[in-house]
Amino acid sequence: MIGSNRSLPVVDSFGRVHKSFRISVTDRCNIRCFYCMPETVRFLPRHEILTFEEITRVAKIGASVGVSRIRLTGGEPLVRGQLWKLVQMLKAIDGIEDVALTTNGILLADQAAKLRSHGLDRVNISLDTLDPETFERITRRKGLDKVLAGIDAAIEAGFEQVRINAVSMAGITDAEIIPLAQFARRKQLELRFIEFMPLDGDEAWQREQVLTGEAIRQAIGQNVGLLEPVARPHAAQPATDYEYADGSGRVGFINSVSEPFCGSCDRIRMTAEGQFRNCLFSTREWDLRTLLRTGASDDQILATMRDSVAAKAAAHGIDSEEFQRPAKAMYQIGG
Ligand code: 5AD
Ligand code: SF4
Repeated sequence: MIGSNRSLPVVDSFGRVHKSFRISVTDRCNIRCFYCMPETVRFLPRHEILTFEEITRVAKIGASVGVSRIRLTGGEPLVRGQLWKLVQMLKAIDGIEDVALTTNGILLADQAAKLRSHGLDRVNISLDTLDPETFERITRRKGLDKVLAGIDAAIEAGFEQVRINAVSMAGITDAEIIPLAQFARRKQLELRFIEFMPLDGDEAWQREQVLTGEAIRQAIGQNVGLLEPVARPHAAQPATDYEYADGSGRVGFINSVSEPFCGSCDRIRMTAEGQFRNCLFSTREWDLRTLLRTGASDDQILATMRDSVAAKAAAHGIDSEEFQRPAKAMYQIGG
């Protein structure tokens, strides 16, 4: 009986316990980063997107089996109206200790204070460059000034943590690394470099475009300040963090391609249209939306979530001959 298994955490066949739930709230976005979306894109119709109530129900079921951290992703989560309401609903769930957001920052200046006052704990803001032209080349839109204002608003709002996420790509952002590191250090923001993954909308990803975390770490160590490794606060953290030797800040590296961390993954995901995924690179999805909309019980929904987790692969295998990209791009999955 599933009901009697309620106290058992969601464990996969490799013993990985899943505590961290990444929920996409929309596939829409107000910019068009090439590493995530195609230039022209058709978004899902509104009725296919889960309501806040449906999302909250799934989160509650997750929390009943040990999920304690939620991250809201997109598309761009802040284009979804009144996101603060969802934050409040999720924070009210027993067992949910932390609700975080990954945003491109464009709308953050307007919303930071409201999100914070309704319980949002942490924000990650994507910023790959401080150069307006490079910003436009990557995002196919203008808006760097808005992102920078969003970062300041987030600092002002007093979140537990404000972090910068930078995707690094050879031939595009090489010259951005040092200025970004200096910017983050000056603002006392944690900075994380993410390796470019084969989830771009144009399916043009090449292994050679991956600027490795190790190369970036060396460049920062030589040009910005000596870096020393920091112990991982918990094993499932994907980033390897470093601290400036003089204690003036931190830089982390999410080396998803060059040094996969699948072995300690504790993440499960749900797309905006209610499809449950056991991995960013999963080629299969489990349909929770139909269950939610046809009167399924919590136990039936949980059983489907467990089926998905049980089928989780050991690793994404990007470097293997058999690697198959998921049919969806980043904006359709959620970062
Ligand atoms: N590879 C690596 N990171 C990506 N992101 C979006 N697409 C990719 C990709 N193909 C990042 C965004 C954001 C987070 C949601 O994921 O920049 O920081
Ligand atoms: Fe929008 Fe984020 Fe995708 Fe860029 S990476 S297009 S900001 S959803």
